[in-house]
Amino acid sequence: MKTLIKDISSLVTIAGNNEKPRRGKELDNINEIQNGAIFFDEKILWVGSTQEAEIKLHNGEISPEQTISLKGKTVFPGFVDSHTHLVFAGDRANEFALRVRGATYQEIAERGGGIIATVKAVRKASEDELFENASKHLWSAIRHGTVAIEIKSGYGLDVENELKLLRVNKKLSGAFPIHIVPTFLGAHDFPPEYKNKPDDYVEIICKEMIPKVAELNLAKYCDCFVDKGYYTIQQAEKIFRTAQDYGLKIRMHADELADVGAGRFAGEIGAISADHLLFVSDESLEKMKNAGTIATLLPGTSYFIRMPYAPAKKIVEKEIPIALASDFNPGSCFTENMQIILSLAVTNLGLNCEQALVASTINGAHSLEISSLVGSLEVGKEATFAILDCSSYVEMFYHYGINHVKEVWVKGKKFIEN
Ligand code: NIG
Ligand code: FE
Repeated sequence: MKTLIKDISSLVTIAGNNEKPRRGKELDNINEIQNGAIFFDEKILWVGSTQEAEIKLHNGEISPEQTISLKGKTVFPGFVDSHTHLVFAGDRANEFALRVRGATYQEIAERGGGIIATVKAVRKASEDELFENASKHLWSAIRHGTVAIEIKSGYGLDVENELKLLRVNKKLSGAFPIHIVPTFLGAHDFPPEYKNKPDDYVEIICKEMIPKVAELNLAKYCDCFVDKGYYTIQQAEKIFRTAQDYGLKIRMHADELADVGAGRFAGEIGAISADHLLFVSDESLEKMKNAGTIATLLPGTSYFIRMPYAPAKKIVEKEIPIALASDFNPGSCFTENMQIILSLAVTNLGLNCEQALVASTINGAHSLEISSLVGSLEVGKEATFAILDCSSYVEMFYHYGINHVKEVWVKGKKFIEN
């Protein structure tokens, strides 16, 4: 239905200059229209001020079938959450309780908790159970303003269970109208049965998993946890070269626990994104910059497992494009609420509000290669956006810890009302 929304106190369009991921000073421009208006059917037909909309209405240039007035509200493109592990079973509340008593993420993993604890739960769960649990979390993410999301496998760690997780992803895509981008993360950890022969597991990933995932068209990207105690660059290279041969593109968990040169490797192999980067070196950042690799920052994880924050300001100063994402998962960051992530980005990563908005919308969309569809409010893109019960976007950051989202619209239709 042709709809005009007008009288929008703060219309955050993030429009213009969106051919490539934004970097440096480009991150500061959110292109806000005060007292804005937007006219759309499934796609955006026109964006401007309410005064301009009134003239167009008068001249018969736009003829809406419904008109909505949104005084005192903010409209923005919605969050593109480009890094999550949303399909899983069980919970790890016990680990959280140990961490607040002083145990570290790595100590818990060494004692058989961590990723492997979730792997055990996933292997026991049916596809329907996984779907039901994931749906619940996906609803919650959308209720908090997420309009497109990447979801990784990685809690199966054998052929059958990795495929099971990716099939659940596909089912979610059929059940929800938002973009769900699937990533194969068979190299998340080593399964217990291969703990002492990790290279044999790498063989299985390359010879069995990747060919099957590609044949069934179950993933767009391949990811690997390249870090101390997890995958080495040599192992990751084997996996990624195979993935590339099968048409999968590369994204990477990089330098989260220590500087192992994963950022440099991400640049060398042409990864679209290197994520976490808590301990990334200057040399790695140079390589990423030259390769155009996006630095995806996940401050919710630093907060939740009580680790240092990535050097976000330095990354921005070096003119490397940044994205902001949740890393939603049951172990290292258990929130699907991107508003909290943006709050942490400004208080603890040192970004400003505008940089945080650009990084979590259009740059997230670039990272998932869906920037022609979502991530900014521009003519020709999908009419997908979130309405905030705030008279200014700054209020979302200032009044923290609550859900400001009033409605989420997807492809021209109201999808959720809180
Ligand atoms: O991104 N770093 C590796 N993987 C996840 C943790 C997943 C888990 O603990 O279950 C992350 O933080
Ligand atoms: Fe992750």
